[in-house]
Amino acid sequence: MIKKILKWTAIVLAGVALVAICTYTYMSVTMKTRMNKLYAFEKETIHIPMDSTSIERGKHLVAIKGCQDCHGSKLEGKVMNDDGAIGRLVAANLTNGKGGLPENYDVSDWVVALRHGVHQNGKPLIFMPSHETTLLSQQDLASLVAYCRQVPDIDNVLPENDLGPVAVVMSYLGKMPLLSVEKIDHNKPMVAVADSTEGPAQGKYLAVSCSGCHRENFKGGEPIAPGFPPVPDITSSGHVGNWTKEQFIATLTSGKTPEGRVLKNEDMPWKMTAQYTRAELSSLYQYLQSIH
Ligand code: HEC
Ligand code: HEC
Repeated sequence: MIKKILKWTAIVLAGVALVAICTYTYMSVTMKTRMNKLYAFEKETIHIPMDSTSIERGKHLVAIKGCQDCHGSKLEGKVMNDDGAIGRLVAANLTNGKGGLPENYDVSDWVVALRHGVHQNGKPLIFMPSHETTLLSQQDLASLVAYCRQVPDIDNVLPENDLGPVAVVMSYLGKMPLLSVEKIDHNKPMVAVADSTEGPAQGKYLAVSCSGCHRENFKGGEPIAPGFPPVPDITSSGHVGNWTKEQFIATLTSGKTPEGRVLKNEDMPWKMTAQYTRAELSSLYQYLQSIH
């Protein structure tokens, strides 16, 4: 009798293990296929102004869009993560040094990366938030490219991306923004120039950078990855609804909230928000306050 029970338990466990292995293999193969899919977008070239105002604007955008958090302070690229669970995630060396962008990487390649989320070779970019950069105005996109294309070359040869099991499962379930190319509305035309006067319209344009974590409706939700804190509501129905504009600006420039909580830069990138101008933070405040 006991033998029989043991035998059946073993069969059931083996069955469960087999189903788990098959499910994982299926997810893994699906993700590999999606990551290797070839896309063909029409080559688009935009005029890249090289005057100092545009380059300064590009530098500011690099700071407030968090490009350096992933690509390194000099855009030299870096290994963002390397562990058994998530795997190895590598942000490209964006300079023309060794290990950087190929010599023939031209303006249209920059545009295709930032607007459509694909490499020069037509394959999807992995974990690059192109679904956010695609919403930049043409003027800002041009300034961004102008700045990036003139940073000094840095030799930094990096290893390849190598997804771990948690990243595979989370991406399969849509809980990790792995393939921005799949999220982008590729037919949406670029806005020529964004509203740059202080106010809710500018705030809405800037808040795209907050939506990746605080969600599209800015009402927050579950942690963005295991091990991170839950993401708070930053509309008028959250704490922010009780803050003055000055308190909001102080929080985003110091990482300390009026309630006395200290935000860790790794959870909430306040060192990035600290680089917004006061007018930009004021616009963000006005926009977020207008959401109920
Ligand atoms: C969340 C991290 C993250 C942020 C923020 C980020 N990137 Fe990336 N980016 C990546 C990763 C990772 C890759 C490499 C993708 C790959 O190899 O498939 C990448 C690739 C790129 C590429 C394509 C390089 C190539 O090989 O074709 C460009 C261009 C780029 N990023 C520019 C930018 C700019 C400009 C910004 C700021 C507006 C930015 N990135 C912000 C993670 C990021
Ligand atoms: C990489 C993810 C990420 C991005 C991008 C991000 N946030 Fe956050 N933010 C968080 C997390 C996580 C917390 C909560 C941290 C904690 O609980 O310690 C937070 C907290 C905050 C808080 C404090 C809220 C409270 O109730 O105390 C404010 C305000 C805030 N974020 C505003 C913004 C704004 C504005 C932007 C865009 C300019 C932004 N965040 C971009 C992840 C992010």
